[in-house]
Amino acid sequence: MPDVQALETSVLNAIAGASDEAALEAVRVSALGKKGAISELLKSLGGMSPEERKANGPLFNGLRDRVAAALAARKTALGEEALNARLAFEKIDVTLPARPEATGSIHPVSQVLDEVIAIFADLGFAVAEGPDVEFDDYNFTKLNIPPDHPARQMHDTFYLKEQADGSRHVLRTHTSPVQVRTMLKQKPPIRIIAPGRTYRVDSDATHSPMFHQFEGLVIDEVTNLGHLKWTMEEFCKAFFEVDEVELRARPSFFPFTEPSVEWDMRCDRSGGQIRFGTGNDWLELAGSGMVHPRVLEMCGIDPSRYQGYAFGAGIDRLAMLKYGAPDLRPFFESDLKWLRHFGFTALDLPTLAGGLSR
Ligand code: PHE
Repeated sequence: MPDVQALETSVLNAIAGASDEAALEAVRVSALGKKGAISELLKSLGGMSPEERKANGPLFNGLRDRVAAALAARKTALGEEALNARLAFEKIDVTLPARPEATGSIHPVSQVLDEVIAIFADLGFAVAEGPDVEFDDYNFTKLNIPPDHPARQMHDTFYLKEQADGSRHVLRTHTSPVQVRTMLKQKPPIRIIAPGRTYRVDSDATHSPMFHQFEGLVIDEVTNLGHLKWTMEEFCKAFFEVDEVELRARPSFFPFTEPSVEWDMRCDRSGGQIRFGTGNDWLELAGSGMVHPRVLEMCGIDPSRYQGYAFGAGIDRLAMLKYGAPDLRPFFESDLKWLRHFGFTALDLPTLAGGLSR
């Protein structure tokens, strides 16, 4: 007859001493497994006389129950210990400063986008958005470009497959449909910029099938061309970080503005470098104009009461000019060397007070 008391003490000690779940499992197998010491005891009941069995049965079963309970309790405790250890190990202190050796950088397009938003936010413009996949109606028709209008050909449009009603969605060819979306849901006064992706079937050193534009729209009862010019000038001074700029207005044509004006800024390209604000050269900045009365009307705004201007400019182009990137294609190739060269430090948010580009 084995010493039941001694067996219980030794198994309970082994359970208490098991330092991880694997060790605990080994103890369980040695006690309660198929060939475990306690299992053997229970099996031996079968060969005993009824009296012996009556005396030993409760003893052995009690032993098994206490050992099973101790195993379960230890298992729970070990699980908690493991979890606490992991939580202690994995905790991060979010108040620590960012590591200076962080290698990620801000893409010039994102940088210019942040700069543009900072400048126009300072002038009281809100940021508006629209989808990349746009209704033909918003991209063209409500901008006074009816289905057979030749201006549609200027746009080299990506068309999506036909809808049940015969219409086709497009990848927006400009950010101007955000003008439509804004006027349809908001009454004047309106003062927004809408930055975002735009698409045209076009690809070379200065054109990419996906590129970025930002749109501006101001509608109220008094806004005129003079305000547009002032806005363009203020934007250029802030964006190119120069005290004085000279802008040139060229008459142009957009179906959704009347009159339409394109803006050039005086610059100096001599000496292989570009300087802004002086020189004998001009760089193209933006298309713009007074919003066409028909556009106002189609967007539910009374053209006899309200008027205003709109403008649109290419973000990638501005980034190329300001930061001296000669080719547009690498903007979208994710080449690490290029990104390191042209990227900006994360966390240095452009602000008018703190400096746009440092
Ligand atoms: N949407 C025009 C373009 O992409 C630019 C523009 C915007 C012109 C707003 C006038 C007014 O070329």
